[in-house]
Amino acid sequence: DRADIVVLGTFVADLAFKAERLPVVGETLLGQGFAMGPGGKGSNQVIAAARAGARSAMITRVGQDSFGDMARQTWSRDGVDTSHVLIDEAAPTGAAFIFVSSRTGDNAIIIESGAAANLSPADVRAAEGLISGARVFVTQFEQPIETAIEGLRLARGHGVTTILNPAPALPVDDAIYVNCDFVTPNETEAATLTGIDTATDEGALQAAASLVRRGARNALITLGAKGALLHGEAGTHFVPAFKVTKVVDTTGAGDAFNGGFAVAIAEGRNPVDAVRFGAAVAALSVQKPGTAPSMPTRADIDAFIRANG
Ligand code: RIB
Ligand code: NA
Repeated sequence: DRADIVVLGTFVADLAFKAERLPVVGETLLGQGFAMGPGGKGSNQVIAAARAGARSAMITRVGQDSFGDMARQTWSRDGVDTSHVLIDEAAPTGAAFIFVSSRTGDNAIIIESGAAANLSPADVRAAEGLISGARVFVTQFEQPIETAIEGLRLARGHGVTTILNPAPALPVDDAIYVNCDFVTPNETEAATLTGIDTATDEGALQAAASLVRRGARNALITLGAKGALLHGEAGTHFVPAFKVTKVVDTTGAGDAFNGGFAVAIAEGRNPVDAVRFGAAVAALSVQKPGTAPSMPTRADIDAFIRANG
C-alpha cells in the first residue's frame, strides 16, 4: 500500500494560550483560555493532506512519552501511515508554546523540536522505498536542514514532485532549491530567505524570481489575506485568498495550505487550481481553534469551494 503524499517533518505538542492580545516584553497578561493539542508543521501538513483525502505517510521521530502517545493517536485517527515514525529512546517529543490574540487571531510561537531534532539523513534514506512510491514529497525546516535536503534529493531522484515549505526561515545553501518543484515560504519567510522586502506585490514577485534564479522550478509565496503568488515554470499568477469573516486562529494556516496544495498536485490538478484548493483548506482551518484539529475534511473543502467559487 503506497502513500500518495509523504511528509518529512516534526510532531510537537502545541500548548496554546489565548489572551486579548500578544504580551509585550516583560509583561504578564491574564489568559482567556488554554488548550493542548497535536501540532508541529510536518504533522499538521500530513493531517491536512489525509483529511483532504490523500493516502498520506509521515517520516519523523517522537519520544517515548505522553506527547509521543498523542502523536500516534493523532495519526491513527486520520489513517496516516506511520511505518517510518521512529521512537527515540533518548529524547522527549517536542513542544511549542503558542500565544494567540483573541482580537486578531494573530500568534507568536516558540517551538522546541525535541526528538525530531535527531531526525537524520540516514533516517530518510531508510524510508527511500516509501518516498519513491509517492506522488508528492513535502518537508519543512523544523528538523535539521540536512535531513530536508536528503529527502528532497531522494524524492526528486525518483521523479516525485517535491514541495519545500521553508519554515521557520533559516539560512540555507542555495543548492537546496534545485531539488524543489515548489518552494512555499510565507511573505516573511520569503523576505528572510531572499533579503527582499515582500510588503508590496512587486517585492513579492522579485523575491519569487530570486528563488527561481537559485534553482527552484516554482516559488509559491503565501501572502496571508491577500492570497498567494505563484511564479516559475507554471507562469506568474496572483491567486486571491477566500474571504473569511470570522478568523478564530491563524496558527497552522500555512500548514493547511501546504497539505491541501500537495493533495491537489498529487491528484494531477494544474498548479493554479492547486493553489486555490490549498487556499480553501487554509480558509477553513482559520475558522477553528488549534492546528491539526482544525484541518477540514474533503467534504467540507468541496462544499466550501462550491459555495465560494
Ligand atoms: O505552523 C504551525 C506550527 O508551528 C504549530 O503547530 C507549532 O507546533 C509550530 O511548529
Ligand atoms: Na486553526
